[in-house]
Amino acid sequence: MFVCHIALQGCLTLSDVPYGVNADTGGHITFLLELACASANDPKVERVDIVTRGFADASLGMRFEAQCAEQSGKIRVIRLDDGDSSYLPKERLRERHDELCAAFLDYLDGLERAPDLIHAHYADAGILARHAKEERGIPYIFTGHSLGAVKREVNGKADAELEKRIAIEERALEQADAVIASSRDEAEAQYAHYGNIESGRIRVLPPGCDLTRFESAKPTQKVRDDLAQFLREPAKPMLLAIARPVRKKNLLGLVEAYASDAALQEAANLVIVAGCRSNIAALEDECRDVMEELIAAIDRHDLYGKVAYPKNHVPADIPAYYALARESGGVFVNPALNEPFGLTLLEAAASRLPVVATDSGGPNDIVERCHNGELVSPRDAGAIARACREIVTDRRKWIRYAAAGVEAVSAYDWKAHCKLYHRLVREVTTEPDPAPEWDRLLVCDIDNTLLGDREALREFLVWQQEHANHIALGIATGRSFHSAQSILASEGVATPDVIISSVGTRIHWYDRENRRFVEDAAWLKRVESGWQDAEVRALAKKLDLRPQALLEQHSGKASYFVEGSDPEAVRRAFRQADIPVDVVASHLRYLDILPEGVGKGSAVMHVADRMDLTQSRVVVAGDSGNDLTMLRSCPFPIVVGNASDGLTKDPSLSHAYMARGTYAAGILEGVKHYQAAGCW
Ligand code: GLC
Ligand code: MG
Repeated sequence: MFVCHIALQGCLTLSDVPYGVNADTGGHITFLLELACASANDPKVERVDIVTRGFADASLGMRFEAQCAEQSGKIRVIRLDDGDSSYLPKERLRERHDELCAAFLDYLDGLERAPDLIHAHYADAGILARHAKEERGIPYIFTGHSLGAVKREVNGKADAELEKRIAIEERALEQADAVIASSRDEAEAQYAHYGNIESGRIRVLPPGCDLTRFESAKPTQKVRDDLAQFLREPAKPMLLAIARPVRKKNLLGLVEAYASDAALQEAANLVIVAGCRSNIAALEDECRDVMEELIAAIDRHDLYGKVAYPKNHVPADIPAYYALARESGGVFVNPALNEPFGLTLLEAAASRLPVVATDSGGPNDIVERCHNGELVSPRDAGAIARACREIVTDRRKWIRYAAAGVEAVSAYDWKAHCKLYHRLVREVTTEPDPAPEWDRLLVCDIDNTLLGDREALREFLVWQQEHANHIALGIATGRSFHSAQSILASEGVATPDVIISSVGTRIHWYDRENRRFVEDAAWLKRVESGWQDAEVRALAKKLDLRPQALLEQHSGKASYFVEGSDPEAVRRAFRQADIPVDVVASHLRYLDILPEGVGKGSAVMHVADRMDLTQSRVVVAGDSGNDLTMLRSCPFPIVVGNASDGLTKDPSLSHAYMARGTYAAGILEGVKHYQAAGCW
């Protein structure tokens, strides 16, 4: 495998990167170098080239000139000569696109062997990759790192400069074989602003992180001393926040949440580690304002002795803060209005500290993956306070979330990243097998059905691979499409032939020839026709239902938490209001409101129809309330042994095979039962 990366910005070099020397010599270079090293560690990778732009600027040192190539093991850095030797900031790279494209083709043509794949980082690199694909037929994948359209959203408007950048991004996206997003938020919300990329080409692949130093961290005396200056009872559980004092981190919202809940104040202290300062007045404007507001709020609510905001820390103190918070039985809180990725949440997870995190952005993925805490709306002070209080006062919950954090260390390390990355590279670069002649379809739910027991899954996958040439594998899940795809890939499940996601409201088909998923537009049309989005959400609000995160909401799916509500009463209320919906409850926790007649059941029927299979050729397997419609409507359903929501006693499932085996073992048991009985 030979992968060629293109990253044109900043001062990129294999050793002694002058980070911070200018605005473009930043985090993406660390990411790229760590990816290249981790990737090169795989024996199947023969070569990794990193192509960047050459320049000669005495103030930056002369090692970035076009003729200065670098090599370390399998990794090489190549600097393109675009005829202009001056250093150019990223905003000006587009002036040199034509020359850079030509220089890149020269480089490719000079190689004794063409790369199998090009991986472009940032839009300008995407232009070169697209050119190489058009001229030399080499496929490419694209990582945006940061997107112009998101900046436009935040600013509320775009200037001409930003519009140009977005247009370049659109061109880079248009021909990409796959686009890598670091989170569901990027895949599902941020890329929704672009016309040239559809959901089926985007993969969620979080960056690798080295969390090992957080795993073994211990509290230090220095950190204890720093807090002792503030806290009356320092041994109490600690709500810890670590963030720069800028508005979007919403630290003030956290103080207000803490102030609003007397029981929480009784149960825990609040510790805010917000950068370093010697004099607040000397901070940058925004940081100064935020610090002044924080202190004013602490004063206004008389929180003295309960809130700490240490003035300074060194990097080594950070792991010690997490460790101390853990020792105290506390919680890490990230209340940001939007958190693009959420590295601090992973650090907390690795430190075995439960988290309460904003439901906007990357934290969705982390909490969904590790189950190490709770998501809350950052604008809901009551919800933040309640989540924190419930964790610090419920020892069993605390222990469960703390222990779950261990998952983060292996799920987010570079090794895990490269496994998925190389799987994607192979998928994009290998010739597709001819489409099989399917005569059967097996549709499985994901959580607590296919997944839950890794050993059983292995066995199931061996069986599945043996039959993949005639039994299509379908998935039907409450998760979103990207969430489903990414968890299946990390658990080593082969790419399914069809994914029914978001409780039956979306269907994506795998197009083998083009190695990408394609959304079923006809199904989407059916889901959206007659769906009264505003009315549904307004009534749910009136009924006081607490909404799930924004990422769980879209046309045809309004999702809430069951909490105190009675699903039957919700159904009645919608009937009375004459809004045609189905209300689906699962795990005594989730409540989905879907268009009437839409759900996993009708989606499976649609899929079977499109495959020209009669219902008797379809077996479905599930475990919970959101599987009911498909288990009911299919003649050969399997209920796995660990089922919940009363499925095993449900009279409408008397025709189902009730497996004794749990999780994937239950699926296999059921499949073999139907095969032995001669019905499948
Ligand atoms: C998944 C979805 C959630 C839904 C639940 C039950 O967890 O993310 O939105 O409510 O499944 O269907
Ligand atoms: Mg399930």
